[in-house]
Amino acid sequence: MAVVRIPEQGRTLKTKEAIVEYLASLGIDYETWAPSHPLDATATSEEILQAYAAEIDQLKARGGYVTADVIGVTAQTPGLDAMLAKFSREHWHDEDEVRFIIQGRGLFHIHPGDSPVVAIEVEAGDLIRVPRGTLHWFDLCSDRQIRAIRLFQDPSGWTPLYTDSGADAKFEPVCLGPAYIR
Ligand SMILES: [Fe+2]
Repeated sequence: MAVVRIPEQGRTLKTKEAIVEYLASLGIDYETWAPSHPLDATATSEEILQAYAAEIDQLKARGGYVTADVIGVTAQTPGLDAMLAKFSREHWHDEDEVRFIIQGRGLFHIHPGDSPVVAIEVEAGDLIRVPRGTLHWFDLCSDRQIRAIRLFQDPSGWTPLYTDSGADAKFEPVCLGPAYIR
């Protein structure tokens, strides 16, 4: 399950109900999914898409998403730093950012217009939908690996549109890890 913090208030949300309710108040959908059949760490992208085919079809119907793919990076991925640098600065997109985490962890910061920045640390089983236009940035955790299903409304993909506000520099991209809440 995700760990959700509101750093400016020193607050951490510790139950799924509290996380779902708080994120919903910001327009962000959060769900947890279990695969219809289990996957191991060596599953191919095709196997992952197959395992979640029913859930992906439901999401497509709900959100008008056209395509789904699997993104995966590890600390060994060539060009990882350059890739991460594109997303660790505050930006928005002209379409929803929908991610279902299969393996690894990552940290979204969401910057709502009229409430404090919220840090959402996601792990395997977490589905998050950040609506189009929402200001946000993303970092990997210290193990620098994640694998996730992405859904797109536009098959040509999406481009980060930067705010250059500097807001991202005010928040440490530090993950707490699963031990924090257990
Ligand atoms: Fe983004």
